[in-house]
Amino acid sequence: MTAMSDSPGVRLTPRLRLEPVSERHADDLLSLYRDPAVAEWFGAWTRPQIEAEAARMARGWRDDGVHKWMAYHRATGELVGRGGLSRATVDGRSRLEIGWVLHRRFWGEGYATEIGRAGLAMAFDELAAGEVVSFTEVHNGRSRAVMERLGFRYEKDFTRDGELFALYVLARDQRAPAG
Ligand SMILES: CC(C)(COP(=O)(O)OP(=O)(O)OC[C@H]1O[C@@H](n2cnc3c(N)ncnc32)[C@H](O)[C@@H]1OP(=O)(O)O)[C@@H](O)C(=O)NCCC(=O)NCCS
Repeated sequence: MTAMSDSPGVRLTPRLRLEPVSERHADDLLSLYRDPAVAEWFGAWTRPQIEAEAARMARGWRDDGVHKWMAYHRATGELVGRGGLSRATVDGRSRLEIGWVLHRRFWGEGYATEIGRAGLAMAFDELAAGEVVSFTEVHNGRSRAVMERLGFRYEKDFTRDGELFALYVLARDQRAPAG
């Protein structure tokens, strides 16, 4: 279940506080992307690149009304990760895409699935989306497992920037009942 908090745009899940990414999150984004277990998938980021990335996400919120959230632990305030929806060109089409990245110390506790559920609730209940897609490198088993846990169906592999990705789709009418 997702609830709105008193702060504009901020949502609460059972364990997480989700804040729309803005320019002020650049430091936290940098610490996340510099986690070696994350860098293995996302590569090396410089400070200016991260600032541009935070600004791009903030623009997404302003222009499309949707983009990624930073996720903080409600009980401790710690940065857990980032994730959620964005509009992106995936396999040649503009689509609503969902993703997740967690600091290594928070893997294995269901936080990515929790962020994913909040994103799907927003997509289907607020944005009236017909479908949401998710994609990851074909060998990213942990991310594929999150997609499968959320009810996504594997559609196909596709190439992006010379790399092979697995594409998953969740249609509105295939969505698992909330619970
Ligand atoms: C991909 C990534 C976010 C997945 O994180 P994760 O912790 O494996 O996924 P979840 O948060 O959904 O947790 C699932 C695990 O928690 C367990 N779990 C515990 N409580 C749970 C709960 N309430 N709900 C769901 N799972 C729960 C599950 O059994 C599962 O355990 P397992 O890994 O031993 O099978 C993480 O590996 C990551 O940040 N990787 C680097 C960045 C990346 O690759 N991102 C994806 C790019 S497309």
